[in-house]
Amino acid sequence: MKERKIIYKAHVHMSMFPITRMRRYRRDLIRPLVQETHLHKEDLICPLFFDEAITAPLPISSMPGQYRYPASMAGKVAENLFSLGIRAVLLFGIPKQKDSLATSAYDPKGIVQCAVFEMKKTVPNMVVITDLCACEYTEHGHCGILEPEPNNKYELANDSSLTLMNTIAISHAQAGADMVAPSSMLDGVVGSIRDALDNSGYTKVCIMAYSSKFASALYGPFREAADSGYSFGDRKGYQAPVANRNEAYRESELDALEGADFLMVKPAGWSGDIISDICAFNIPVVAYQVSGEYAMIMAACEKGWLEEDVIMESLISLKRAGASLIITYFAEEVVKRITGCSHHDTNSQ
Ligand code: PBG
Ligand code: ZN
Repeated sequence: MKERKIIYKAHVHMSMFPITRMRRYRRDLIRPLVQETHLHKEDLICPLFFDEAITAPLPISSMPGQYRYPASMAGKVAENLFSLGIRAVLLFGIPKQKDSLATSAYDPKGIVQCAVFEMKKTVPNMVVITDLCACEYTEHGHCGILEPEPNNKYELANDSSLTLMNTIAISHAQAGADMVAPSSMLDGVVGSIRDALDNSGYTKVCIMAYSSKFASALYGPFREAADSGYSFGDRKGYQAPVANRNEAYRESELDALEGADFLMVKPAGWSGDIISDICAFNIPVVAYQVSGEYAMIMAACEKGWLEEDVIMESLISLKRAGASLIITYFAEEVVKRITGCSHHDTNSQ
């Protein structure tokens, strides 16, 4: 937070009536001059789901307006988004086969690999980011490889899962991904995949770290969307506790030190403090407005309980907190609003 100087009390209130009147800024003509933050179409990253088992778009019921697509449609989907002005997408894959070691996650002909290849072939200028995790590919639904614990339970094994993430990262880079986004919250995953990518010659592939990712119930709809629900337990053994601001800061700090090119906070709307905190690293901060935030807004708007203005409000407040980029399921909707409703500048809102 910037240091603020306090102005003389006398200046604020010298007589019966205020001298300083904030409402002067709010007159219609003046208001645009003092707008501090803007939402540009270049700020938006659109998440997309690709499913190996389908041949036509499949609606996601908990996220109205969102679909799973077959990899064969990746080019067309990207063309549409790019023509609207969206520059970046984040890809998730749903494979036909799941197993305990997530082997289809690094299949060179796997769902994400095919979708990336299709997309870069059709729209080479689209920035293609891949979510890098195992939970869509494991039959147990956890974000890596499990190891037995003494009490007859299983836990996410950190270091053997790192090796898995390295392999997946390289396969995404091979397919043509511009950026990989490790979302597992494994310790050391950023440093590990940076090393692996560099040693395979992929020094130009960026890492967008899910650096401060909370164990949140707001990922519920996503688990239907990506078929990544877990068969037992929860993700509290690896994702950060919602109550802990310092711990979340430290998570991003570690990823910064390990070489992350972008830091990310999720869920975005309830994490303005963390977004603001981690701007300190001077690494671009990405806010992920997650599936549950989308679902809440959509549901309230459908019921007529909220007006759709909440969509823009939810996003501009992330810019206000300090985010450089926003991942949102509203990306397509918002880019249409931005380019459609501004008379003076079609580039911003
Ligand atoms: C995979 C992953 C998840 C999300 C992004 N990547 C689910 C989870 O961690 O349980 C959630 C995104 C959303 O809810 O929109 N690890
Ligand atoms: Zn995962």
